[in-house]
Amino acid sequence: MRLIICENYNEISKKSAEIVAAQILLKPNCTLGLATGSSPVGMYENLTAMNLDFSEVTTFNLDEYYPINKKNDQSYYYFMNQHLYSKVNLSPEKIHIPNGSAADPQEECLAYDKAIEENGGIDLQVLGIGQNGHIGFNEPAETLLAGTHITKLTQNTIEANSRFFKKIEDVPTQALTMGIAPIMKAKTILLIANGKSKAPAIKALMHGIIDPKIPATLLSCHPNTIVIVDKEAASLL
Ligand code: F6R
Repeated sequence: MRLIICENYNEISKKSAEIVAAQILLKPNCTLGLATGSSPVGMYENLTAMNLDFSEVTTFNLDEYYPINKKNDQSYYYFMNQHLYSKVNLSPEKIHIPNGSAADPQEECLAYDKAIEENGGIDLQVLGIGQNGHIGFNEPAETLLAGTHITKLTQNTIEANSRFFKKIEDVPTQALTMGIAPIMKAKTILLIANGKSKAPAIKALMHGIIDPKIPATLLSCHPNTIVIVDKEAASLL
């Protein structure tokens, strides 16, 4: 695992955008696994200012709340449209994000895995990390699931995400999330984290133990993971 400690969030954003840009330049028809949340906002800002050609790029997002309509401004589709899709020349048919209004969520999850598989997997997977160590919405548990699945969000995640909502009761309690398998099969993983609240999860990740109750710790088995953090997130290392 390669650890890069940055001065601040701006530096994290610049460096992570450069890594995504390098992937696109090296392989114009690459597949990106993408994350939402506050961590990658600056990365998208830098990336969309680079004038890259996204016309052959395929994207698969990690997760989406369930149920939620994609027009809802709290949906991850809305987030992605605002920060990336509307700003670059991605082909609409190459954009994938779990459908938060699918009538049959199980069927949606199976179809999502099939699409990732048929696409040949993910070249570069961008990840944030939950305060509780979740990746995607693979929440701490006794056992973790390989495939895309519907999951209940933990109280910790609901509280952490309530900052984006008017009141905590508005935070959806379920999500559709990519499982561990496509994340671990990605050729490169880029995890970004900033702020003190992420320090315990980053400490666990860098500690070399594997604990499904801190799902990100699985990444220490991945051969090509880059972790980019600021000084605060690295403060317990
Ligand atoms: C988002 C996702 C989540 C977030 C994590 C951190 O697509 O999969 O795992 O990356 O909850 O969220 P922020 O960046 O808002 O702290």
